[in-house]
Amino acid sequence: MLNAVQWHHHQVSRDDRAAQKSQKPCVLWFTGLSGAGKSTLANLVEQNLFAHGYHSFLLDGDNVRHGLNKDLGFSDADRVENIRRIGEVAKLMTDSGLIVLSAFISPFERDRALVRDLFADHEFLEVYVDAPLDVCERRDPKGLYKRARAGQIRDFTGIDSEYQPPSHPDIHIRTDNLSSTQCAERVVQYLKLRGYLKDR
Ligand SMILES: Nc1ncnc2c1ncn2[C@@H]1O[C@H](COP(=O)(O)OP(=O)(O)OP(=O)(O)O)[C@@H](O)[C@H]1O
Ligand SMILES: [Mg+2]
Repeated sequence: MLNAVQWHHHQVSRDDRAAQKSQKPCVLWFTGLSGAGKSTLANLVEQNLFAHGYHSFLLDGDNVRHGLNKDLGFSDADRVENIRRIGEVAKLMTDSGLIVLSAFISPFERDRALVRDLFADHEFLEVYVDAPLDVCERRDPKGLYKRARAGQIRDFTGIDSEYQPPSHPDIHIRTDNLSSTQCAERVVQYLKLRGYLKDR
């Protein structure tokens, strides 16, 4: 049977859209333990980009689970599907010319590699938001570690579920010895130096 689903080619290309925005679209894929600072950093980077007139969009954990992925739980299969869908959405958004920031623990190297495969070279930037477990646990901004230690949350990353650190992150940020503002500046600096942000 012939496949009735066909790809449509658009007259306005992704390069046209990117040039209009004076930026090179990419996804900044923040990964790290809960409490490592993914949301904090992604928000600060986005504020910085916005203030300088660049176009971005932030995809963050809980928000996506309220809508797009509200049918998914935390089983292994659902976690994989959660990340896969987010990757596809990030792909559509970069095609629209945006700099996409995503802030999910995304603990498994294999799942992150699957997302990376959706993108062209240099379009997917893995940002390892790195802080030791004991620091994250002391911060515990949502009280999740406490609940995990009390046995109220199962399969919690770092406690009874593995976190696989990126072996070759594009950007490696240690958040335990720099302020969040300094960490965010490093990410923005990387984007500038690598030509993702054009002069406006
Ligand atoms: N250099 C830093 N960068 C980022 N966050 C920092 C830094 N120093 C201290 N913090 C603090 O660490 C906490 C990080 O919490 P945040 O919600 O950003 O983590 P997260 O990685 O998004 O966690 P989760 O996966 O649970 O959403 C915040 O309370 C923040 O103020
Ligand atoms: Mg977060």
